[in-house]
Amino acid sequence: MRWALPVSLLGALLFGACGDDDDGAAESGLQFADRGPISGDAGRGSFSFGVATAATQIEDENPDTDWYLWTAPQPEGLGNGVFVGDASRGYTMAIDDVQLISDLALDVYRFSVEWSRIEPRRDEVSEAGLAHYDALIDALLDADIAPMITVHHFSSPVWVDDPRVATCAAPSDENLCGWAHPQGADEIVDELAEHARLLAERYGDRVDDWATVNEPVNYLLAAYGVGFFPPGRTLLIPNFPAFIDTVRNYLRAHVAMYEAIMEADTIDADGDGVAAHVGFTLNTIAWRPSRDNALSDRPEDLAAVDRITYAYHHLFVDSLVHGGFDADLDGVREESHPDWQGKLDWLGVQYYSRNGVSSEPPLIPVLDLMVCFGDFDLGSCVAPDDPTHWVPAMRYEYWEPGIYEILLDFAQRWPDLPMTVTESGLATENGRRRAEHVVRSLEQIHRAAEAGVDVRGYYHWSLYDNFEWAEGYEPRFGLYHVDFETYERTATEGADVLAEIARERRISDEQLQTYGGLGPMSPEEE
Ligand code: BGC
Repeated sequence: MRWALPVSLLGALLFGACGDDDDGAAESGLQFADRGPISGDAGRGSFSFGVATAATQIEDENPDTDWYLWTAPQPEGLGNGVFVGDASRGYTMAIDDVQLISDLALDVYRFSVEWSRIEPRRDEVSEAGLAHYDALIDALLDADIAPMITVHHFSSPVWVDDPRVATCAAPSDENLCGWAHPQGADEIVDELAEHARLLAERYGDRVDDWATVNEPVNYLLAAYGVGFFPPGRTLLIPNFPAFIDTVRNYLRAHVAMYEAIMEADTIDADGDGVAAHVGFTLNTIAWRPSRDNALSDRPEDLAAVDRITYAYHHLFVDSLVHGGFDADLDGVREESHPDWQGKLDWLGVQYYSRNGVSSEPPLIPVLDLMVCFGDFDLGSCVAPDDPTHWVPAMRYEYWEPGIYEILLDFAQRWPDLPMTVTESGLATENGRRRAEHVVRSLEQIHRAAEAGVDVRGYYHWSLYDNFEWAEGYEPRFGLYHVDFETYERTATEGADVLAEIARERRISDEQLQTYGGLGPMSPEEE
């Protein structure tokens, strides 16, 4: 690591490696603080345990999302990838599923509201859709679990950008033409802000924590850059300026949602003195320089790491922290957007893997680099140092210290921005491997907190196995295993271990020895 924050007294006290119990006897293991607000001074030094899901990935019975149309078999649908279908039946089973979270002794449930359930057709609001999430929120609160709502997590109603229409000339109520269309995008920004306002009006008396968007760079790359997600646009290489327009438009949508939620959610639900804490969640990767399928120390590859880190990790947050936009990614914000400045109360950090990046071949426009991505390998993919850290279902490497490094980098760049790890998880069929991932990730987050980083929580991805977007149902990210014939949920060893940690607010020495560290992980096949 290039630098280290001074150990803050608060961090050391609240996240100590050991302490005394009531009898004065020395306690061992790693201690975590009590839950607290996700942003604001009152929450400094607090720590919340949680779990995250997204509506499309778990919910059944919804033909109004772009994902349903995108994956449904032809001729009704477009037949892309695996059909989302009934996902994990997380809509009809939503209330029963609250017990699963309760059994994990968690503080927070982060879920997304499916926009198309609330507004299946433009400006047609579904009371049934609104009432569903009412009931979920009430059940969570009855179980003393704080709800966090993600407003936009990778899915939209079909009328936002109909994937069946290759070239959308002019926006209409049936098709707003998507995030790259100059007039259409203006209308979508307004529509999404209105949707966020409606959610804040309806649920704001019980919900304080809001994430506007999820992983903007990943979403826009997949949906508008390379066409893996609906609506399947491929702007990245042929029309980079149009792709950058989608990034700017999505930033504008975040700001409009931030303002709408702040105006509409005026009720402090949890008594911390703040009615709404609004942030968004950011995808991160531990990038490493590579070339010819080997690690590289060539200056041009190190420079490529810096460029991808800037575009992938820093651009979106910098735009909101400083109120400006760097459309040509040269490190200078040539566009001034003073109304964007400060519209971010907290940042969600999401980490899964370490990936290679190479300056050769320079395939990605403007950035002049190539990244390792799944099976697409032009020399930037590198075998992991330790093969047991390979995640076969996702074709990337899990590397424990990545989250620590990223949290420290962010704390240095944005010292006043509180962070929560809003997603962290592993695709595996082996419960013990998942338990290792939980303990090891928490060890690294604890390390960052002890080093003085204002990191306030860890939410595991995900509650139970679900629809992993373009990857279908093969990757299993669930703390609970789902039998996709009966929809029965069964706790994995990962669930048991996380529940014990959350209950005690401590990782015991025994857990550290059994599951922790940096050494080999349990094999994927057992
Ligand atoms: C997304 C989730 C996804 C998870 C695992 C994140 O990129 O927010 O929707 O399932 O990673 O790949």
